[in-house]
Amino acid sequence: MADHPLHVIVLAAGEGKRMKSARAKVLMPLAGRPMLAHVLDTARALQPARIHLVYGHLGEQVQAAVTDLGDIAWTLQAQQRGTGHAVSLALPSIPDDARVLVLYGDVPLVREQTLRRLVEREESLAALVTQLDTPYGYGRVVRDGIGRIRAIVEEKDATPEQRAITCVNSGILAADARRLRVWIANLRTDNAQGELYLTDVFAQADDEGEPASAEMCVNPQEVFGANDPWQLAGLERMHQRSRATQLAAAGVRFVDPMRFDVRGDVRVGRDVEIDIDVILEGLVELGDDVRIGPYSRIRNSTLAAGTVVHSHCNLDGVVTHGPCHIGPFARLRPGTEIAADAHIGNFVETKQTRIGARSKVGHLSYLGDAQVGEDVNVGAGTITCNYDGAQKHATVIDDGAFVGSNSSLVAPVRVGKDATIGAGSVITREAPDGELTVSRAKQTTVEGWKRPSKP
Ligand code: UD1
Ligand code: CA
Repeated sequence: MADHPLHVIVLAAGEGKRMKSARAKVLMPLAGRPMLAHVLDTARALQPARIHLVYGHLGEQVQAAVTDLGDIAWTLQAQQRGTGHAVSLALPSIPDDARVLVLYGDVPLVREQTLRRLVEREESLAALVTQLDTPYGYGRVVRDGIGRIRAIVEEKDATPEQRAITCVNSGILAADARRLRVWIANLRTDNAQGELYLTDVFAQADDEGEPASAEMCVNPQEVFGANDPWQLAGLERMHQRSRATQLAAAGVRFVDPMRFDVRGDVRVGRDVEIDIDVILEGLVELGDDVRIGPYSRIRNSTLAAGTVVHSHCNLDGVVTHGPCHIGPFARLRPGTEIAADAHIGNFVETKQTRIGARSKVGHLSYLGDAQVGEDVNVGAGTITCNYDGAQKHATVIDDGAFVGSNSSLVAPVRVGKDATIGAGSVITREAPDGELTVSRAKQTTVEGWKRPSKP
């Protein structure tokens, strides 16, 4: 088919009543992105001349959600009169010598290789079909003795014998544009749903003595659609399982691959270990020997070789530069950078903060807009007061400093090199290099004082 331009029609105009949602069905999320975005990615992988997106129900939502517009021709289907009608609206802008591929916005797991096989078939018409033990809800594929398609019958129009057929229509088909135009023009609405069925083109091809071929999809999961929330959840699990399979093939060791979710892209080194209930989002890079503890969520982060994330951590926009320990229970926000051998402990929050090599922030601290040098010890409960209600200010803690527990560093402020801050201090001015700075009331004892007693 190399000499015929490929035009992909994506059907996304249907209402999706069974989702019972105010959101368009094709925008329901799979791995954190709309189903339609997955379908468009797969369509683009085939490098088509054009993608024709048929939209209609909740059309503004669909248009707003598709941001990468380059190769998309928008086709409005104002009234949903069936899949055949939807295709008829896209056909006028497709040239006669094109090969047409029809995809469904609610069938997001189909793979590029499967579609390639379908598109490259010799016949002017080919359907992607699969075998299902419970074919309920799908169009049934009526074939002749050598597997060619006589007709596709919708369940609502099928006879009891036809309903027993377990070869089902995925909805996805490939056709030569010139022939498809003629067949589509002949569609009629004399069926159970009063719609123009795309599937009626198959009986026409057979009548003309050139029956369509069936491309069998060996893995039925690829052609499962999501018509309701339960099916959507099923697709999500299938998708996540295949993502985990790919990562395991790349060497990742999962404690339980069924309790792992990716919503984005992941790059991994060697000997990466992932405990249960870990969610990776956006672009996540895990270097050699990285270990992720249970119940952690990591988003848009790059973790250097040897980084260990203990349980219950939430990382977003974090970069580590060497082996280091994070958590348990750490919340590291965008702009956090951690150098080698540093340690961030429990209930520590950071934002726009660099932590130098071998420095420790062990417990219950907030560091925002801070530069922490090397070999620093930040005591439990240390807080950078970085926000004055109008603006954010920076805190600098130089190499070798020791900040006593429960200190407040009121920014902008600097703690000098090898400086020591006494516990419980409120630091509002620079603490000089090498000195002890302490700002708290002196301890006194009132001798002979008696507690009041009850009358
Ligand atoms: C369709 C097929 C059926 C197949 C099944 C596989 C037809 C007549 N039937 O049935 O053989 O087994 O898919 O999932 O094609 N759409 C529009 N405009 C419309 C109607 C639908 O754009 O007027 C879009 C929907 O948004 C959806 C797709 O077409 O993405 C399929 O429509 P749907 O109503 O879900 O068809 P099924 O009944 O599932
Ligand atoms: Ca469907």
